[in-house]
Amino acid sequence: MTSTRRQVLSQGAAIVSVASTGFLASTASAQAGKLRVGLMLPYTGTFAQLGVAIENGFRMALNEQGGKLGGREVEFFKVDDESEPAKGIENANKLVQRDKVDVIVGTVHSGVQMGIHKVARDSGVLSLIPNAGVHAATRGLCALNVFRTSFTNSQPTKALGKVVAQKGHKRVVWISWKYAAGDEAFEGFKESYLAAGGTIVKELGLPFPNVEFQALLTEIAALKPDAVACFFAGGGAAKFMKDYAAAGLQGKIPLYGSGFLTEGVLDAAGPAANGVTTTLHYSDSLDTPRNKAFRLAYAKQYKMQPDVYAVQGYDTGLLLIQGANAVKGDLTNKAPLYKAMQDAAIDSPRGKWTMSAAHNPVQDIYLRVVKDKENKVLGIAAKALSDSGTGCKLA
Ligand code: PHB
Repeated sequence: MTSTRRQVLSQGAAIVSVASTGFLASTASAQAGKLRVGLMLPYTGTFAQLGVAIENGFRMALNEQGGKLGGREVEFFKVDDESEPAKGIENANKLVQRDKVDVIVGTVHSGVQMGIHKVARDSGVLSLIPNAGVHAATRGLCALNVFRTSFTNSQPTKALGKVVAQKGHKRVVWISWKYAAGDEAFEGFKESYLAAGGTIVKELGLPFPNVEFQALLTEIAALKPDAVACFFAGGGAAKFMKDYAAAGLQGKIPLYGSGFLTEGVLDAAGPAANGVTTTLHYSDSLDTPRNKAFRLAYAKQYKMQPDVYAVQGYDTGLLLIQGANAVKGDLTNKAPLYKAMQDAAIDSPRGKWTMSAAHNPVQDIYLRVVKDKENKVLGIAAKALSDSGTGCKLA
């Protein structure tokens, strides 16, 4: 092909594309196109099944609306974030700059969330957090365009500390992965456990997503605490409970945790999970028509049982539906969009919850114990628990 011919062709293409843009602009508003939803979740690694459950739950909520948001069709763009904080900003930018999404739904890992959060704050894109509990996102670095549908890392453990003290355990060892989620879960536990008169004998940790627990379990056996409290999740949580039992500690030193420890892993952990007592904003066994209907529909659609991550994904869908409906699918109409989401009351399988001023759920935290591969509810450990939202200022 000669260069002249190439030039003519490319000029021709340019003219066609200008013409078609003009045609689009004059005949229909931009909102008539598909709403672009970015899913940035872990699809590989120790949190892979958490990402899948979130996506399933989110899609289920949209499917209940005929697959539409505010009357618009939806197009999905997916990125596997691998729970890798170092790639957080780059991956979020793929969705915002390359795919031009209207909203990012993500993610699970607190470190990766900080990457999404930077991109959300810089670009103004709507950011919905379906899991990661990192405090900063709804405290000092809160933002009008960022809403969380899950929890802050210290919410479940704030309820846990009191429970462990009330059970009469005076000396406790804490163990978790050393990153924001583990550190902030510890912060919540420490605050309420110390206030109730308990003593923390030792804080143990290992880097995420390391699962070499042996040396630490040997140390726990030597320390002989009254109980152990922990934060682990996903594949690592199943391995921790199995190793705990294999080390001979099950039944000897009671094991407590924020409830992620026993979510989605009860088959994998088997009998090693029996008796593990946890606090969380959801439980499979919640005996409400809303939860039962959700569980049935989810199991039918996905041929697996839902867990807290599926519920959080579902609630993220419910929240986005309320926002999108309020602006008839035009997510660029920011003030009424944010107001609808701020004012949303979510009728969730976990129970009804509302959005705090800092954009984090105000919710009940349940006390649960594992029996026969189920998280059985023992009661409410904390009623309508809100995160402090310290340092959050939304103009
Ligand atoms: C987090 O990194 O914030 C995190 C990850 C998994 C969980 C909970 C919190 O189950």
